[in-house]
Parts: sequence; structure tokens; C-alpha cells
Amino acid sequence: MKRLPAVFLAVISSFLVAPPLAQAKGVKIGLSLPTQREERWVKDRQTMEAEAKKRGVDLRVQVTDNDASKQVAQCENLISQGIKVLVLAPHDASSASVIIDKASKAGIKVISYDRLVLDSPLDYYYLSFDNLKVGELQGQFITSKVSKGTYVVLAGSPTDNNAKLFREGAMKYIKPLADKGDIKIVMDQFVKDWQPSEAQKLMEQALTANSNKIDAVLAPNDGTAGGAIQALAAQGLAGKVPITGQDAELSGAIRVAQGTQSMTVFKDTRELGKRAIEMAIDLADGKPIDTQGRTVFNNKKPIPSVLLEPVIVTKDNLDDVLVKSGYLKKGQVYRK
Ligand code: BGC
Repeated sequence: MKRLPAVFLAVISSFLVAPPLAQAKGVKIGLSLPTQREERWVKDRQTMEAEAKKRGVDLRVQVTDNDASKQVAQCENLISQGIKVLVLAPHDASSASVIIDKASKAGIKVISYDRLVLDSPLDYYYLSFDNLKVGELQGQFITSKVSKGTYVVLAGSPTDNNAKLFREGAMKYIKPLADKGDIKIVMDQFVKDWQPSEAQKLMEQALTANSNKIDAVLAPNDGTAGGAIQALAAQGLAGKVPITGQDAELSGAIRVAQGTQSMTVFKDTRELGKRAIEMAIDLADGKPIDTQGRTVFNNKKPIPSVLLEPVIVTKDNLDDVLVKSGYLKKGQVYRK
């Protein structure tokens, strides 16, 4: 009984005080993305543009095409356009700290989106998935399929902190078996700019150097898996060698359905994009973000972080996780 008046007051005052959605009207938010060549980043962009439109946010988007200095210049340009918040998915984790310097000087808040900006002593937020867990899902899966044998280990771009986290998570499972001598790692390489063509070349080299005797491949995402699978296919080995992936891109899901790729990891970009716009609106409003004490270390200090959960996808749960949730269309995944 006693609580009722307080609740009513809170409800009434939330209507009297300017409602948050109205405040978002016209607020300028900058978005800097690494690429639009990968379906994953196309989806992030689409979600954020749709969410921004719904909330009346003036979203200004720039795409760097995997070029660190272009990203700095594009962000300077966004800053000069009077944005309140910058959502930044860095191409180069470390050199992007310059962008945080410039934004902070202009009083602009930054959300490091999906990929963590490293080495900055300044304040910003990090919004991503639990990327160590992504790697753990990949490592646990591949070692459960192949606990003894010859491994190719591919990692993503060396400029992307996520690539290191994915590898670290996967290695928790692979390394103990390698130390025991059960697993022999014949290649352990980062893939420049996450390029599928690079992954293909590396896989070709590994196959040639080992007379095609490769038992398992750790591929960090669907793009690089696609490249590696092309090399396997050329040797008649697609579908015979277990290989991981990530992103639940349509091409990856098709390969999982057809059996040439063993798994992928679903990171719901719809959720991530929506959260980014919500967080940006709050920051533009001067509201702090409650990350419930969660942080990720950026080499200089802990950065308050919101981390969403990744989900493993195999042939068995593909329909439930990707099709039923509307992320991918059944007709496209199972096309002939
Ligand atoms: C993202 C992955 C993506 C990769 C290549 C990573 O930072 O987390 O989802 O596949 O970059 O763009």
C-alpha cells in the first residue's frame, strides 16, 4: 500500500519529464564501419539505420574499406559535422585511439562497436559480444570433432582485437591437446584484413605442404572459412575436413546446411545494432550507461562493456536459431 504513491509519482513524472524518444529527435550520431564487403557489416548498418530512423536520430555513416588512416579522416569529418556520439568499429584497434582523442576533445562520447579500441587512456564504452566465448565455442566444437590429428589454425586480421580473443578462446581447447602431442598444428596464421582470398591461399599452402593430410581447420569467421573451403573443394576434401566459422552469414549457413562447413557462431547483429543506437541516445542525453560492473581491458585501463551472448549453430539447430528467429530465410538457406 505504502509503495503505490511512489510508483504513481514515478510513472506520472516520466510522462511530465521529456520522454527519451522525443529527445532523440534530430540528434546527430556518427557511425564509422570498417567495411561493407562482408554481409555481417551490411546487417549492422541496416539495423542501425532502421533503428535511428524509428527514433528520429540523424545517423551519419562512413565506411573505411579497411583503411586505418581513412577511418581517422572520416571520423574527423563526422566530428566536424557536430555529432554528439560516435559509434566506432575500428579497422585498426590501436591506431583508432587517435580517434578517441579527437572525439573527446570535441566533447563527443564514443562507443567502441563490436571491436575494442586499444591503448587509449580516455573514457569510452565498449559494446560487443563475448568474443572470448566465440573462440571457446569454435575450439570446443572442433576439438570434439577431431581430438587427434593435423590442424590448420587461422586467425582473423592482426589489427583486430577480436581476432586475438577468438584465437585465445579456441586455443584453450586446442593447445592442451597440441601440448600432449595429440594435435599437430601445421599452420598457425593471421589472415590479413580477414580476406577470404588470403585464407584460401594459406589453406592451399597447408594442403600442398602436407600432401592433403589435414584433419581439421579452425577458421575464425564465415568469410575465411569460405576461402579455406574453396581450397579444400579443389582437392575433393570439402565436407570431409571439419571446419569452423562465425557470423551466420547466408553463405556460411548454406555451407552448414550442405555439410561443407561444420558450424558457425550466431551473433545477432539486429540486437547489437539496436543496443548501439539506444546507448548512443542515452549518452547524447547525458545519461551514463549501466554496464553492471562489466569491463574489458584495453591495454591501458578497464573499459565499461556491454557484451551480448554468442550462440553456436550446427546443422542440428540451424532452423531453430537462424530461420525461426527471422535472421535468415529458409528458402535462401536451403536453396538448390
Ligand atoms: C567481427 C566478426 C567479423 C570480422 C571480420 C570481427 O571483428 O567480430 O564478426 O567476421 O570482424 O569483419
